[in-house]
Amino acid sequence: MTTKILVVDDEVSLERLIKQRFRKSIRAHELEFIFARNGKEALEKLAAEAPVEIVLTDINMPEMDGLTLLEKLSEIDGIIKTVVVSAYGDLPNIRTAMNRGAFDFLTKPIDFDDLEVTINRTLEYVQKLKANLKELHQAQSQLIQSEKMVSIGQLVAGVAHEINNPVGFIDGNLYHVETYIQELLKILELYQAELPNPSEMLRKYIEKIDLEFMREDLPQLVESMKEGTERIRNISTSLRTFSRSDIDKKVPFNIHDGIDSSLMILKHRLKANNHSPEIEVIKHYEKLPPVECYPGQLNQVFMNIIANAIDAMEEYNQGWSYEKIKANRNVITIKTEVGNEKWEIGNGDKDDKEELGSPSSQVIIHISDNGPGISESVKEHIFNPFFTTKPVGAGTGLGLSISRSIVVEKHGGKIDCICTPGRGSEFIIQIPIN
Ligand SMILES: Nc1ncnc2c1ncn2[C@@H]1O[C@H](COP(=O)(O)OP(=O)(O)OP(=O)(O)O)[C@@H](O)[C@H]1O
Ligand SMILES: [Mg+2]
Repeated sequence: MTTKILVVDDEVSLERLIKQRFRKSIRAHELEFIFARNGKEALEKLAAEAPVEIVLTDINMPEMDGLTLLEKLSEIDGIIKTVVVSAYGDLPNIRTAMNRGAFDFLTKPIDFDDLEVTINRTLEYVQKLKANLKELHQAQSQLIQSEKMVSIGQLVAGVAHEINNPVGFIDGNLYHVETYIQELLKILELYQAELPNPSEMLRKYIEKIDLEFMREDLPQLVESMKEGTERIRNISTSLRTFSRSDIDKKVPFNIHDGIDSSLMILKHRLKANNHSPEIEVIKHYEKLPPVECYPGQLNQVFMNIIANAIDAMEEYNQGWSYEKIKANRNVITIKTEVGNEKWEIGNGDKDDKEELGSPSSQVIIHISDNGPGISESVKEHIFNPFFTTKPVGAGTGLGLSISRSIVVEKHGGKIDCICTPGRGSEFIIQIPIN
């Protein structure tokens, strides 16, 4: 990227000298020099040419001098480092300039070797500052995102808890309803046995309400109500499992419960709709020991990766007919195992094989899809914050970078992806058991 340097001096010849001295960097588009004759013009050019990163300014100039310009520069947003040029021995002005935030100073007549060194040094500083700022911004966004997840988690856990109470009444009462209904039906049967020939009015009424059907249907209705409450209870348990916010210390956790709760949260996206059939989820769960972890955070990782797989397959389906998609089913495969095997990374060369920790000390979770896969050039960036190939508004590009920091930094694990364009993607997560 070109770095813009604004040179502010009323001496016209300076422009030619600078352009000559830095012609190589200018031609290579590394540097671009902009010139102004005084502080006032400098401010106008700064606004028009933003972002300017370095200002090289004389002190004595008509209309607005360098010291006033320095003062105004501190009010402008962004990274601007100023180097002042003053007469040799003009210590009071140099002092004032440094006090007003100048980065460095040069004396007149300008020594061009010195100028080059100063500009390079300033440039280096600006670049470092920019990199730090970027890092800070990324860390901040990740923090905001994780905090948002924590508060959403708490909200969800709260709602799940609230749901449990009314479901409890229904469930508890259903038991009595079932007993009462059975008793009532029994009484009806006894009445019918004792009064086999009811009056005309009763007979008509029995016919009207279709008593026989009601008698058969009623127990089934109760059965399906029981199943409904059971499902609500499961959903609520999943929600609470998914949003567990154990943040103080790691706790033993059943990874399969975590994956299942994430799948439950994403269920609506796996179901069939007008455009595409259901996404099939195939599970190969090996028996796993409880894993010491932060459950809520690991669930977030599973959700991010499964959601990415769904996104990728949905995009892949674009332009395909329902029948064609059905013939090439969308499948997500989730495999878990206790790790003592070698994990192939990259192209699968022997040298690339990485030995995992000691046998049986890790759990390994493979989440794969048969979507479009990921090209090498995209793969390089997928774990970087804000990297996304999705349209504006559809993806923040934080999913995988947050997942990586949860797996690697919070759990001392590993996460990688094996993918071949056209043959789907596989994400592998490895978490130490304790
Ligand atoms: N299963 C996958 N198949 C194909 N590409 C994928 C898959 N998973 C991730 N990617 C690629 O990696 C990129 C980064 O993923 P990441 O989850 O970090 O961000 P995002 O999904 O774009 O946005 P966000 O998760 O914040 O909504 C995606 O934009 C996509 O290009
Ligand atoms: Mg994502």
